[in-house]
This record gives sequence, C-alpha cells and structure tokens, in this order.
Amino acid sequence: MASIRSERLELVSLSPDFIEALLAERRSDAEAAATLTLPDDWPDAHDRGFLNFRLRQMRERPEIQEWFVYAVVLPEGDRPMVGHAGFHGPPGVNAVKAPDAVEVGYSVFEPYRRRGYATEVVRALVDWASREHGIRRFVASISPENEPSLALAKRLGFEQTGQHWDEEDGEELEFELHLRAASE
Ligand SMILES: CC(C)(COP(=O)(O)OP(=O)(O)OC[C@H]1O[C@@H](n2cnc3c(N)ncnc32)[C@H](O)[C@@H]1OP(=O)(O)O)[C@@H](O)C(=O)NCCC(=O)NCCS
Repeated sequence: MASIRSERLELVSLSPDFIEALLAERRSDAEAAATLTLPDDWPDAHDRGFLNFRLRQMRERPEIQEWFVYAVVLPEGDRPMVGHAGFHGPPGVNAVKAPDAVEVGYSVFEPYRRRGYATEVVRALVDWASREHGIRRFVASISPENEPSLALAKRLGFEQTGQHWDEEDGEELEFELHLRAASE
C-alpha cells in the first residue's frame, strides 16, 4: 500500500502482518515489513490492546486497512518511527456518527514532540482523504485537559460541535473540520 508523504514525514500504513509480528515480539520482522525502526518502548499495554483490536478488524475486512493506523516515520537514515496516526475507520465511523465523515487520531512519541509533527501529520491525513476519497468532513475527539491536542485542532481550523463521555477516555470534546468544495 502506498505511503502518504508530507514535507518532513512519511506515513506508512500498518498491515496485519506488521501488527502480528509486532505483537508476537518478532520485532525485526515487523521492522522489515514496514521499513522502519521501532522505538524500544513501543507498544505499551494500551497500544497493544488497540493494535490487537485493529488486527481483528482488518482480518475481517482487509480492504479497509487504509482507514486505520499509520506509523509516522522520519524518512531519513534508519527511518525511526516517531508516532502513529490515522483514522478510526472508514467514512461513517466517527464520534458524531456522520456517514460522510472520518475521525482522525494521532500520537507523537515524547522525544519528538513540539516540532510541529502532529500538525503536519493531521494535515497530511486530511489532504489524503479529501484528494483520494473526496472526504470533506473530519472529526476529532479531544479531552478538555489535552492542551497540545486542543491547540493543534484549533490551528488546523477544527471547531467544537459537541461533547460525549467515552468509556475508556472519559469526557471528550467533539471537534469538526469542514472543507469547502472547490465550487463554494
Ligand atoms: C497531542 C500531540 C500529538 C501533539 O504532538 P506534537 O507533535 O508535539 O504537536 P505539534 O508540535 O504539531 O503542535 C503542538 C502544539 O500544541 C501546543 N502544545 C504542545 N505541547 C504543549 C504543552 N505541553 N502545553 C500546552 N500547549 C502545548 C503548542 O501550541 C504546540 O505548538 P508550538 O510547539 O508551536 O507552540 C502529543 O502531545 C501526543 O502525542 N500526546 C499524547 C497522545 C495524544 O494526546 N493524542 C491526541 C489525542 S486527541
């Protein structure tokens, strides 16, 4: 599957084979499958659970891989993985249950934060989904305490439209970004 490029970063779509190798501690097989270098401390227990869930979903519907997880990679040298990002699923899978919207998720590992990487990643995901699939409506669910993520969403033009309670993450504010059609 083709990766998504941005100015400084590459987003590598994570395949079921990559996730399976990673969760089975076959880390060099995983690195080879995705051509990247894994950080020693990833994944933690939370991300293992999340990846396991995605693996099961992709085994059932392999065609939706492009709507799941991407490794964020620095494309130079040994290609370190600096975070992960992607969508919650294909159009329709999002906190506001809008059939034409996709929800974005993103995480940058601590040593690489405050360099604008997450902003660049979300911009690249939005560009890709609008260019390749005509998506114009994007959702992000953010905890009211998550200042960096709130700042990022606002900078990209997301506006708060609601809130909900998430079993795992507690209170979350719902943000949406609506792109204008070329004719508007
Ligand atoms: C949220 C997160 C992805 C941001 O990643 P990042 O690559 O550091 O983000 P960026 O550098 O693109 O921009 C972050 C902006 O948020 C603000 N910010 C960053 N850290 C901050 C902090 N500790 N306190 C307040 N504002 C902060 C700043 O405006 C910053 O821009 P600046 O560095 O130009 O001032 C990262 O902190 C992270 O992975 N957190 C844990 C996972 C998470 O919360 N994911 C989002 C779930 S909704």
